[in-house]
Amino acid sequence: HSPLQTKLLQMHQKACEIYVHMLKHTQVGQPALSYLQSRALDESLMDTFQIGFAPNERNFLFKVFTNDGYTFEEMLASGLFVQYGDNQLMDRFYQRIMFPIRNEQGKVIAFSGRFLPQANQVEDKEQPKYLNSPEGLLFNKRDVLFNLDLARSSIRKSEEVYLFEGFMDVISAYKAGITNGVASMGTSLTDQQLHMISRLAKEVIIAYDGDSAGQNATFRAIELFEEKTRLKIAIVSLPEKLDPDEYIKKYGKEAFYQLAVHGREGVFPFLMRYRKQNRHLGNEREQLAYVQELLMDLTRVDSVIEQDRYLNQLAVEFNISRDALQSQFMQQRRLNQ
Ligand code: CTP
Ligand code: MN
Ligand code: MN
Ligand code: MN
Ligand code: MN
Repeated sequence: HSPLQTKLLQMHQKACEIYVHMLKHTQVGQPALSYLQSRALDESLMDTFQIGFAPNERNFLFKVFTNDGYTFEEMLASGLFVQYGDNQLMDRFYQRIMFPIRNEQGKVIAFSGRFLPQANQVEDKEQPKYLNSPEGLLFNKRDVLFNLDLARSSIRKSEEVYLFEGFMDVISAYKAGITNGVASMGTSLTDQQLHMISRLAKEVIIAYDGDSAGQNATFRAIELFEEKTRLKIAIVSLPEKLDPDEYIKKYGKEAFYQLAVHGREGVFPFLMRYRKQNRHLGNEREQLAYVQELLMDLTRVDSVIEQDRYLNQLAVEFNISRDALQSQFMQQRRLNQ
């Protein structure tokens, strides 16, 4: 680390402690604390993930850091402040629940602040739900997976990693006993993230949100893992457009654990469902196009036994002779080679 980076790490550690204190021990933190409790986050989870609260003041952290003797340049470089006017700084995060983002060594290198819904107020469309630290000397978004430091030993042991979209999904899954979970924080996976995952695990279990954005992201993630890694891939499909955190809230941690561990599915069954979206399978042409796409997908399935099972499923579902499907599949495979 450069001397400046060391300073910036100190500042993040300090900010983290202050935000935690504001959440847990102050009156202004009370609404945030209640909100988190209403989301079924208990004290020990808050401690584990060092969740905090940035109060509704534009120079709260600024005053603390000025007192501590940090310079304008250091504060600007930290990303914890935004510049205004000529040479003025104000807090970047205010009135937000603070999720520290840690590097692989467990050091806080950035924050994501969640907008706190006020009583009697619908989600404010003017404000982004999550506000992140900008990239800088410590934080390169493409190199970071949320929670990789805490999850590492559990990933190593199980040789599996769960991939979630968001912070609350990782945290709630952790509560449910899935401690080998990380989050891509809503963006599409980078080469660095794929590399970090494949270095530690043999299998990735994609547990993105059940809404259509999450399903599309799952489809893209499968393509990336297949193209760029040798990891085995499984999918946890959530019903009713729920995300993992919402599923746990609604059906309980045991139900989620069962689904995540014993109810996960392979890539092909996911694709069978995914490729049905926006298709009118009552129409014969669309039916054939659908089957054709899946035969292409089936060439990516390694196991002959699995191929056989899926060919049977397709034959039954679409009332196509098993022989015809088989020869179409062989033809597809030759074309792919
Ligand atoms: N995200 C972000 N900026 C946003 C929205 C989302 O960085 N404006 C990232 C966050 O890491 C978030 C993840 O994308 O956790 C998934 O987004 P989404 O599913 O919309 O949010 P949830 O994680 O479900 O948030 P919550 O449960 O707190 O509503
Ligand atoms: Mn305290
Ligand atoms: Mn989502
Ligand atoms: Mn979500
Ligand atoms: Mn959510």
